[in-house]
Amino acid sequence: MADSSSFRTQANALFRKNLTFQGRNFRTNLRLILFPIVLCLLLVLLQAIINNELDKPSNKCGCTCIDQDGDGQCERVCGIQYSDLDQVATCSIPNPPEWPPMLQLPAPQFRAVRTGFDSFGDLPDGSCRATNSCPATVLITGSNQSLGDSLGRNMFPSSSTFNSSNGLTGAVLGSASKTDSSNFLDSAFLSSLPIYYVQSQCGPNSTFSISVPIASLDLEKEIRCVQGQLLWRNSSSDINNELYAGYRKGNREEKINEILAGYDFLNSNINNYNVTVWYNSTYKNDTGNGPLGIVRVSRSINLVSNAFLQVLLGPSTQMLFDFVKEMPKPETTLRLDFSSLLGPLFFTWVILQLFPIVLTALVYEKQQNLRIMMKMHGLGDGPYWIISYAYFLAISLVYMFCFVAFGSAVGLKFFTLNDYSIQFVFYFIYVNLQISMAFLVATFFSNVKTVAVVGYITVFATGLLGGFFFQFFLQDKSFPRVWIVVMELYPGFSLYGGLYEFSQYAFTGNYMGTDGMRWRDISDSNNEMRHVLIIMVLEWLIVFFAAYYVDQAVTSGSGARKSPLFFLGKFKKKRSTSFRRPSLQRQGSKVYVQLEKPDVIQEAKRVEQSLLGQEMSHAIVCDNLKKVYPGRDGNPEKFAVKGLSLALSQGECFGMLGPNGAGKTSFINMMIGLVKPSSGTAYVQGLDIRNNMDQIYANMGVCPQHDLLWETLTGREHLLFYGRLKNLKGSTLTQAVEESLKSVNLFNGGVADKQAGKYSGGMKRRLSVAISLIGDPKVVYMDEPSTGLDPASRNNLWNVIKRAKQNRAIILTTHSMEEAEHLCDRLGIFVDGSLQCVGNPKELKGRYGGSYVFAMTTSSNHETDVENLVKGLSPNANRIYQISGTQKFELPKQAIKIADVFRAVENAKSRFQVQAWGLADTTLEDVFIKVAREAQPFDVLS
Ligand SMILES: *[C@@H]1O[C@H](CO)[C@@H](O)[C@H](O)[C@H]1NC(C)=O
Ligand SMILES: *[C@@H]1O[C@H](CO)[C@@H](O)[C@H](O)[C@H]1NC(C)=O
Ligand SMILES: *[C@@H]1O[C@H](CO)[C@@H](O)[C@H](O)[C@H]1NC(C)=O
Ligand SMILES: *[C@@H]1O[C@H](CO)[C@@H](O)[C@H](O)[C@H]1NC(C)=O
Ligand SMILES: *[C@@H]1O[C@H](CO)[C@@H](O)[C@H](O)[C@H]1NC(C)=O
Repeated sequence: MADSSSFRTQANALFRKNLTFQGRNFRTNLRLILFPIVLCLLLVLLQAIINNELDKPSNKCGCTCIDQDGDGQCERVCGIQYSDLDQVATCSIPNPPEWPPMLQLPAPQFRAVRTGFDSFGDLPDGSCRATNSCPATVLITGSNQSLGDSLGRNMFPSSSTFNSSNGLTGAVLGSASKTDSSNFLDSAFLSSLPIYYVQSQCGPNSTFSISVPIASLDLEKEIRCVQGQLLWRNSSSDINNELYAGYRKGNREEKINEILAGYDFLNSNINNYNVTVWYNSTYKNDTGNGPLGIVRVSRSINLVSNAFLQVLLGPSTQMLFDFVKEMPKPETTLRLDFSSLLGPLFFTWVILQLFPIVLTALVYEKQQNLRIMMKMHGLGDGPYWIISYAYFLAISLVYMFCFVAFGSAVGLKFFTLNDYSIQFVFYFIYVNLQISMAFLVATFFSNVKTVAVVGYITVFATGLLGGFFFQFFLQDKSFPRVWIVVMELYPGFSLYGGLYEFSQYAFTGNYMGTDGMRWRDISDSNNEMRHVLIIMVLEWLIVFFAAYYVDQAVTSGSGARKSPLFFLGKFKKKRSTSFRRPSLQRQGSKVYVQLEKPDVIQEAKRVEQSLLGQEMSHAIVCDNLKKVYPGRDGNPEKFAVKGLSLALSQGECFGMLGPNGAGKTSFINMMIGLVKPSSGTAYVQGLDIRNNMDQIYANMGVCPQHDLLWETLTGREHLLFYGRLKNLKGSTLTQAVEESLKSVNLFNGGVADKQAGKYSGGMKRRLSVAISLIGDPKVVYMDEPSTGLDPASRNNLWNVIKRAKQNRAIILTTHSMEEAEHLCDRLGIFVDGSLQCVGNPKELKGRYGGSYVFAMTTSSNHETDVENLVKGLSPNANRIYQISGTQKFELPKQAIKIADVFRAVENAKSRFQVQAWGLADTTLEDVFIKVAREAQPFDVLS
């Protein structure tokens, strides 16, 4: 008896089969690999178009042609002075312009006024808002109010000290515009808002214009006076509260009270200058995705320092703060990494694409019952899982490698800027999660078409939802992170989240000319990658075990489902594999109820003896096997098999005959482990089918009623696969496969190397038989092996089975009496869930036949003559058929001599015309019909 094959052999067999299978799907694979390539190329193309657009002169620093050296030829010179406003951002700036330092002023309509009961009484009246003439308020406090007041008096110049004819020197300038991220161009001069100069009191004619040269343009800029109002507060917390209350909330403008600045002079005195400054940093342009704007705070510090100096040394002393200027910069090019922007969406599709592929492959094997078929030939669940998993993992990794390699090769920043080790870890974890997920989902489906549709819808929906829904939350930094994490529990979103982070890092890296994501960035609080990785690892482990559990316990994907607590079995004591000795009480209770069938009772006795250990040579022993299907939808329970006892020895072929629906298939399904018996059991080679199915499979072959074959594998590949599963190796394997192919007539003419999908029905049948016999199993079940075969192939097949039965036990179901008679040593007629008779074909014919059938055809007016003739031969004759002159009679064998019959017929011929006559022995078919009719008089054959 062969041992169950080792993990390595099973793995090897399955792996080679999968490789061949994959190789066959060349077209699909090509499409699979082309998809990311096409998407990458599309991105490259779009990127090229965008780069082309960005490289247009209007997006580059302006240039012009000037004759510099006077030789009549003009040279091309570029620079900020030749650029328009759109172009300047990219110019090299060797000498950045100087800008007067600005205060961040509240816009006139938002400046603090007396509004409600909660505001301070010394604020100006709200009526100034109508004329845009509200003063800008500065709040001060400190431990010495008289010092504070004198500092405040010195902060803003009065109208008498500022003379606009001298330009802007000495003026305290401010703007309500929002700042940019650099100060090459001060937004105060570019925006349409006026520039203000703050004075302690505005005189008449306080509005005038100046012209400001910016690049090649001269901008006309309006300059307006604004009164700077200083208000003393008793403590810094008062200031704080007032600032807080004045903050713009929603759109309710009447509640807004914006303050220019706040100063707390603390314990300052003449010898000690100690100050705290409040400033508003929200006034900066952070609408775009780029770096944030600078904060206008330096001027407010200078103001108060200057005031202190003047208190100290008198009004003629001045601490001047003329200009601010950026450091010089070289020419830059505008770059927009388009691939990083569209990347998350496209790449989510690319990577998710593997999901339906794994899913359909798994469901295909389930739909075609190939998984069960493999299991019946000894492939354990463990190896199946591990190998399939490893196999899909390998495929996914190869695919991902191609994808990243190609993307890098065409230069997509998404790949080249981010650290490859992070990318590897991310993709590796994700594909593992994805495969586990596919295993889990596959257990709930059994139809390839459905699952393919579901799979692809998932892919596209996930991409779109990610791009137009999930990304929205990712970008919204105020959205609670917890909910993002909750959404990322869906693997599609965690994939999207990770890709999004890659794209963000690549985008800014490209824009700023720095690196993309590095390991140190993982700990960034804004980087979602850390969550994503943790979620995916945990989910992978959970889903993996859940999938295995569901596969084993909940669905019947791999044959008989195990109990939901099947894994506890491993901890229980290993059950003995020897025969269970039946208890003596059981004997004699229910076994002998079918008293009228001595042969069936005889068989039951044999079983009892075998179980008691008196006769151990039986290959198969069925002990009162029963199957009851529970009642559904109000129908009563269905008794498919009502107690079947049978003992088969090695070298015996047992034929099961029976009308459709008699329970033959239920019986076979129990024997091959597809369904669990409701009660009773069977022993195959001494192993109990309830507990030791896995070992039984190693010595069992099955030829199922419907051919379970891979459409794309050839006959030879099927046999190689199953041969390997049965522990055949090297030359033994090749030889066995070759012999097997020859014996079923599939060897010649290259048939063996044609794909099974192209076989005719007969060829598939023969291949199935060959599969059931390969590896020399000791027990073989064949479910109608010769259906659909032409007579020549059928004879061929019979010879194969005859030769094969010499050293094994075969149980065969069939509807062909000829086949049963030809192949089987014993027959059992199975009707309505129980055996009606057991015996070899001759015995049965003798027992149930026991008569000849005499047929005669005459003209209809001689029918009575024929009847008399027959009555003369035997008074017990029985007419079984009569129609327009043709009659058939049953003649008991004991009462008849054949010579008498001939004589009587000769005699009759002389009296009337006999058109035809015949005498036949009973056939097996007659026996079958008789038995079936007796057992089920009403519905089977009427
Ligand atoms: C407050 O400051 C003034 C100078 O401005 C000084 O003369 C006066 O002594 C200070 N008062 C206290 C209590 O320190
Ligand atoms: C402003 O300065 C100009 C010249 O520097 C002078 O002519 C004019 O009188 C000054 N105006 C005032 C109001 O001081
Ligand atoms: C600071 O600036 C923001 C935005 O410009 C504004 O909404 C807010 O009211 C300002 N806060 C104060 C206290 O002025
Ligand atoms: C400045 O003021 C703070 C807050 O009152 C105080 O803790 C600190 O000691 C002061 N510094 C000096 C040099 O007086
Ligand atoms: C902010 O900057 C963007 C471009 O960087 C510009 O289009 C927008 O007008 C700016 N907003 C303000 C309020 O200055």
